[in-house]
Amino acid sequence: MSLPILCSLVAASFVLPSVHAASAEQWRSRSIYQIITDRFALPAGAPTDKCDVDAQTWCGGTWNTIRENLDYVQNMGFTAIWISPVQQNYQGPRTAYGDPYHGYWIQDATKLNNKFGTSDDLKALVAEVHKRDMYIMVDVVVNNVMATTTTPDYSKYLFKDASLYHPYCPIQWGDPNSEQNCWLGDTNVTLPDLDTTKQAVISGYASWIKDFVDEYEIDGLRIDAAKHVNKEFWPTFCGAAGLFCIGEVFGGSNVGDVAQWQGPLDSVLNFPLYTALTEGFKIPGSGNITALTDTLTQSKQMFKDTTLLGNFLENQDLPRWASQSVDPQSMYNAMSFTFMYDGIPIVYYGQEFGFRGAGDPKNREPLWTEGYQPNRATEIMTKLNGLRNFLVNKTEWATAEAQVLTSSQYGIAFQKGDVLSILTNIGSPPQNDTHIAVASPYDPNTALTDIFTCNQWVVGAQGFVDTEYTLGGQPHVLVLSTLLDQSDLCNGQVVTSQGLGKDDSSSNDADSILMSRWHGVAAVVSMLWFTIW
Ligand SMILES: *[C@@H]1O[C@H](CO)[C@@H](O)[C@H](O)[C@H]1NC(C)=O
Ligand SMILES: *[C@@H]1O[C@H](CO)[C@@H](O)[C@H](O)[C@H]1NC(C)=O
Ligand SMILES: *[C@@H]1O[C@H](CO)[C@@H](O)[C@H](O)[C@H]1NC(C)=O
Ligand SMILES: *[C@@H]1O[C@H](CO)[C@@H](O)[C@H](O)[C@H]1NC(C)=O
Repeated sequence: MSLPILCSLVAASFVLPSVHAASAEQWRSRSIYQIITDRFALPAGAPTDKCDVDAQTWCGGTWNTIRENLDYVQNMGFTAIWISPVQQNYQGPRTAYGDPYHGYWIQDATKLNNKFGTSDDLKALVAEVHKRDMYIMVDVVVNNVMATTTTPDYSKYLFKDASLYHPYCPIQWGDPNSEQNCWLGDTNVTLPDLDTTKQAVISGYASWIKDFVDEYEIDGLRIDAAKHVNKEFWPTFCGAAGLFCIGEVFGGSNVGDVAQWQGPLDSVLNFPLYTALTEGFKIPGSGNITALTDTLTQSKQMFKDTTLLGNFLENQDLPRWASQSVDPQSMYNAMSFTFMYDGIPIVYYGQEFGFRGAGDPKNREPLWTEGYQPNRATEIMTKLNGLRNFLVNKTEWATAEAQVLTSSQYGIAFQKGDVLSILTNIGSPPQNDTHIAVASPYDPNTALTDIFTCNQWVVGAQGFVDTEYTLGGQPHVLVLSTLLDQSDLCNGQVVTSQGLGKDDSSSNDADSILMSRWHGVAAVVSMLWFTIW
């Protein structure tokens, strides 16, 4: 049964990495826009009011419609897309959980999913992505296939021999052995679990992934349910693919649980950071910035390389940010964190419109209802991407390690390369008595430009930078003006402001930052104030 697979093992073990694949080093400087193919874009002229997320069925997006709408993604400054799985899915009647519009219910991994297009369509998408100097990451499901029974007929799957799957058992959560050897899903939709310790599975998958990434010129892989596979499997699999692998290690706040998977995999999605950002920034919420700084400290200790981690606020399995947090400033600040701190920023399509789906299936909204129109969130993303793209080109930004400079109940300030980010969780309502005072490493009088307003500010006495929020809790991302001048990000619109603050009427963003040329007394008062609070 598995003879062809065994033969390809020999080939897979000695093959050179793919020509087009991109390495971890190359991905480090990218920023990623995550797409569910079925929900991103419709063919021109199709009615836009027909997609019912609760129906859990196909809404009409394809690889062609992604290709036709890449301007939208590229114009926001993203340099990569991650698309939902492309392999053939379950072909049978509708299940208790609907149809496989999301692409994660794999049947025969050697075939493409014809719901989303042909082989030529996928190649045309990849070619267009590459023409734009962008990368494409494909979501792959390796841990399991999908069936509607605990005793499937495997003749239509990549692995046809039942002995290559673990016998059915429901997962006992919290027991790593059970999580790796039992089946995800339930008895309505079973997810038969491959035995990834079997040589035939290891070699079969290695040759399959190599063929796939070679044929379609894929640049990176997002690996579904990575922690449900034994760790030893991944170096062989990703080695055969010869490209960057980022794994889903779904989890909460425990850094150690997640960090142990970086090593077996190049990178993982940063769930601990996600948890800490929601805890620290969402409104209403605990506003627990200590939990965030604890997570950052542990991450520096436990992850092999924080600059490769995937930073996100949303994905297809999580509640949308705006379903958890009523204040848009909370998203702008937390999002600025995901772009300006160590790691690869990832934005799940629709985050830019403040979608509110609180969980599967409501968090897979169609994007087309919004008409792809710019708004405040897309402006902020565009600025953040523009800055990051400029910095990764010009400086050692991508490998520079961020340092937290200060934190308080109101927020956090950190530096990475030539950027000082001061982010707050206070939300939109102005607060007259709230400050974040940062001891920056800059000399007094150094000029910094806020990328969101293009206002220029001057560092105060002893290098202090003091932010006020008398016009609300906006994010501040400050770059050395002399460096930013070499980009087109503020296009000569820099407004020089000294000692401005509360009534800064020149600001187009109702910006309330204050960076005075401090007098010694003011500095001491603010420092005390800050220490006390
Ligand atoms: C199967 O689906 C039905 C209908 O949605 C649901 O009532 C039932 O609880 C599901 N069974 C299991 C084992 O989850
Ligand atoms: C904040 O999070 C830390 C964990 O880092 C925890 O020890 C502390 O109790 C939390 N504080 C509140 C107010 O929830
Ligand atoms: C980065 O550098 C490349 C090659 O020099 C150039 O094509 C690209 O426009 C630059 N991007 C930015 C954002 O500066
Ligand atoms: C903040 O101060 C301004 C005047 O400086 C005042 O008009 C406003 O009501 C104050 N806001 C709060 C929330 O105290």
